[in-house]
Amino acid sequence: MNDKAANGVSRRKFLKGTAAAAGVSAAASIVPVRFAIAGTAKVKLGILLPYSGTYAMLGNSITDALKLRIAQAGGKLGGRAVEYVRIDSEMSVPKAPQNTKKLADKDKVDFIVGPVHSGIAQVMAKILGPRSTPIMIVPNAGSNVVTGPLCSPNIFRTSFTNWQPAYPGGQVMAKDGHKRAITIAWKYSAGRQMMAAGREAFEKAGGNVIKNIEVPFPKVEFQANLSEIAALKPDAVFAFFSGGGAVKFVKDYDAAGIRKTIPLYGPGFLTEGVSKAQGAAAEGIRTTLHYSADLDNAANRAFRAAYEKATGKAANVFAVQGYDTGSLLIKAMAAVGGDTGATADLVKAMEGAEFPESPRGHWKMSKAHNPIQDIYLREVHGGKQQLQGVAAKALADPARGCRMA
Ligand code: BEZ
Repeated sequence: MNDKAANGVSRRKFLKGTAAAAGVSAAASIVPVRFAIAGTAKVKLGILLPYSGTYAMLGNSITDALKLRIAQAGGKLGGRAVEYVRIDSEMSVPKAPQNTKKLADKDKVDFIVGPVHSGIAQVMAKILGPRSTPIMIVPNAGSNVVTGPLCSPNIFRTSFTNWQPAYPGGQVMAKDGHKRAITIAWKYSAGRQMMAAGREAFEKAGGNVIKNIEVPFPKVEFQANLSEIAALKPDAVFAFFSGGGAVKFVKDYDAAGIRKTIPLYGPGFLTEGVSKAQGAAAEGIRTTLHYSADLDNAANRAFRAAYEKATGKAANVFAVQGYDTGSLLIKAMAAVGGDTGATADLVKAMEGAEFPESPRGHWKMSKAHNPIQDIYLREVHGGKQQLQGVAAKALADPARGCRMA
């Protein structure tokens, strides 16, 4: 990380602020601070995720797996017990400032884990980025901007940028021989950024996007859009929907009778965690994502078994992101012996984080604080994701506009 301003905070200013805070607490006690803290006050973990509406499944999967990972480590971070302070984001961008400030200023949490929704992530990053604490860990929202122009020393992500799974998806669609495509997504930053990345790759490879359809978020009335797609007869459709909206879109697409003649592609959220509900309507859909349920590694097998035992549900990419958020916290808090006041050291530990054995395979943190990871090509068969291969190896987001990268 260089010393230039990022999101209004230079690294030097950030380190100076955290060192001053550490000096005050060290002077106040003759007992070494880290020793005094360990085993006493609880670590406060703020969580701002959706537990209602179309993304409720995503928020629940992340939370369950985060708690599972911390429970596997004895329920402690750096030797301290954990207190969870949870808010339902309701996927509301207007409520995001008050929710973020409640966790940061009223509850005085040490870390904020959230959100799922890119629009909320941008609001949170604007509030939290210019501060040195609390540290924000994004366990889903892919907003390119958060680890782009809004990147900051105290903002980390354990999931993906919207560009990462979408760009290889556009390449796959072109490689499969398609020339004319339609893109369709919810009308907000995640949909726009994913469609732009898929289109960029598809058109670079000689394809042509003949129409971009935007559906107001979180609406799920697709009939008029599907009639238009059927009339325009593209070779393929590239789509972003997730959670409850993805179930409805894939089922409606199949019911419109175009699944076999106009194949569906997209970032893997389209079929992730919803296979049971989508049933045969998802058969043959090809998507790209940083996870596939059938990844053949010991960490994935152990994770899936533990998650299923704890929740009674099958794990999905959102659970993997929650689980890896837990792993990042465990690593960083161990590095500072539980001293959440040692912000600069916490940040340093998170920046150097590398996970050779995540359920998704190997990943490490980029200079912009986003995972560098493999993107897999999957295809749905018999209600299950089937891994087709690696669509992009160790893919780093370009982090356009991030001055730390
Ligand atoms: C987002 O808003 O960034 C997002 C939401 C659901 C799935 C993937 C991305």
